[in-house]
Amino acid sequence: MKIAFFDTKQYDIPYFEKLGEEKNIKFKFYETKLNEDTVALAKGCDGVCIFVNDTVNAEVIDRLCELGVGIIALRCAGYNNVDIKYAKDKITVARVPAYSPYAVAEHTMALLLTSVRRVHKSYIRTRDFNFSLNGLTGFDLHGKTVGVVGTGKIGRVFIDICLGFGMNVIAYDKFPAEGSGINYVELDELFEQSDIISFHCPLTEDTYHMISEETIDRLKKGVVIINTSRGALIDAEALLEGIKERKIGAACLDVYEEEADVFFQDFSDHIIDDDVLARLISMPNVIVTSHQAFLTREALGNIAETTVDNLIAYSKGEKSGNELEF
Ligand code: NAI
Repeated sequence: MKIAFFDTKQYDIPYFEKLGEEKNIKFKFYETKLNEDTVALAKGCDGVCIFVNDTVNAEVIDRLCELGVGIIALRCAGYNNVDIKYAKDKITVARVPAYSPYAVAEHTMALLLTSVRRVHKSYIRTRDFNFSLNGLTGFDLHGKTVGVVGTGKIGRVFIDICLGFGMNVIAYDKFPAEGSGINYVELDELFEQSDIISFHCPLTEDTYHMISEETIDRLKKGVVIINTSRGALIDAEALLEGIKERKIGAACLDVYEEEADVFFQDFSDHIIDDDVLARLISMPNVIVTSHQAFLTREALGNIAETTVDNLIAYSKGEKSGNELEF
């Protein structure tokens, strides 16, 4: 099999190359993202392998079909960047539903602890031999109420971590897990009661801009908002306003609404065009990581294995069980 691998990062190559050699799959690695302009690179390939910020709309799907490409293998769990409905009966779409919920949940807690204990500030201070503690006062997580939105694989691991810290956990899920022992509340109640809110639900029409100007009004003053799920769950401009008005105490963002053109790239020598992102990053109480939550050795190994299994199942005319069929 020949697979065009889009949005390649250096850390992807060793895992996929090794498995590809073992399973007779040739990966053609491209740094560029898949979109209308780059789809021609898939010519001569049986499939494409994509990540979170590639664009697979109707036009791209039509072009892939014309080129004889039969499978879109997502090397991630979320699939909001693929027009699944349009793909139906035209091309196989498979994803990696789970690779390490621990990776994402642990990064979520890393962001929360960094934020509330001001580690991002003290790290920079001590490197400059500034050992002052002024302005570094944090707060205990023990006893605080954390609202978890989405109690799937990642949300549940995060809940367990929070319980280990002695936090009071409340949760909202559109499809609550019966018998899980999770303390479910309505979304409004979660917004009103939580000292910390963490998002672990997919991006859908229902969840788009869950944090907006209107919902921010209902939050507790000083609330910490964490998003390691998908950027557009939060209206970034409204978040920025909430921070400027001192309503939101802190924000920890591993994802951002307009991340596609910025994240995963080095802009350290450039002027960033996105004023909202630049202003958010300038805030002392905002921490941004660039969609890094998944990035552990364990997760990368599992992603490569499941993606290759999906490709092999397709090549044999079989189902891996990870196909997206709607
Ligand atoms: P999952 O499918 O196991 O759980 C998602 C949960 O969200 C389910 O319990 C579902 O019922 C719930 N849900 C669906 N619609 C909802 C709604 N309208 N309101 C509230 N809850 C709703 O997914 P998993 O593996 O836990 O991943 C969660 C999200 O994390 C993914 O959708 C993805 O966007 C994001 N993610 C981010 C990564 C990163 O590196 N930052 C890596 C992997 C996933």
